[in-house]
Amino acid sequence: MSAAGEIVSPARAALRNATRAAHLRLHAHPTLAALAAGRIASSQYLRLLARLYGFHLPFERALIEAALCHGVDLRIDARAHLLTRDLFDLGASGEFIAHLPLAEAPALGGPGEWLGALYVREGSSLGAAFLAAALDPLLGAGCARGRRFLSGGETEDWRLCCAALEAGAARGLLPAMIDGAQASFHALEHWLADHE
Ligand code: HEM
Repeated sequence: MSAAGEIVSPARAALRNATRAAHLRLHAHPTLAALAAGRIASSQYLRLLARLYGFHLPFERALIEAALCHGVDLRIDARAHLLTRDLFDLGASGEFIAHLPLAEAPALGGPGEWLGALYVREGSSLGAAFLAAALDPLLGAGCARGRRFLSGGETEDWRLCCAALEAGAARGLLPAMIDGAQASFHALEHWLADHE
């Protein structure tokens, strides 16, 4: 699930292995699979964005707040607002967005769990870049509107995340990191489960 020939650092490899099954289950989610195949309809994409907003807004807030509690010195780039812009682009109203249900964020009890959750959030932007490209049939090639969230990952954020994962593993946090990553994947799976 990564670019051919890429060297994967040990903590990332351990996290990837521990979450592979959940990641593959998400690939099989009907809406995500339709998106990946370039077959998603506009109304279906809008419902998916609404659901992702309900997950990512509290998840992002929890990551930012827990970073302060755990004394983590790593900038968390806010991206949930990009979902708001995409929803507007797809025709949603401000009132619709304001009333969207929000998920309960996974508990991030310590720096290890926090790092595992960060891995899921930043890593998801790698796959998201592929999903953004698969929106060409719906949005038109070269059109940024409607896919700002999926296109929004920064290479530098991922690089800093990977460095933080290795530093965390060197401090003996890997088991807690795996717990945090698995909990984050399961929270998203659970949240998307009732979304057809
Ligand atoms: C149909 C949906 C999805 C597809 C097709 C997909 C695809 C991919 C691909 C191709 C990569 C590797 C990219 C690279 O190394 O350059 C990747 C990485 C990753 N994705 Fe997904 N993904 C999907 C959904 C998700 C979701 C919903 C999440 C969690 C929020 C997620 C979390 C991750 C993580 C954590 C990584 C990093 C794995 C690593 O350490 O290499 N993915 N995904």
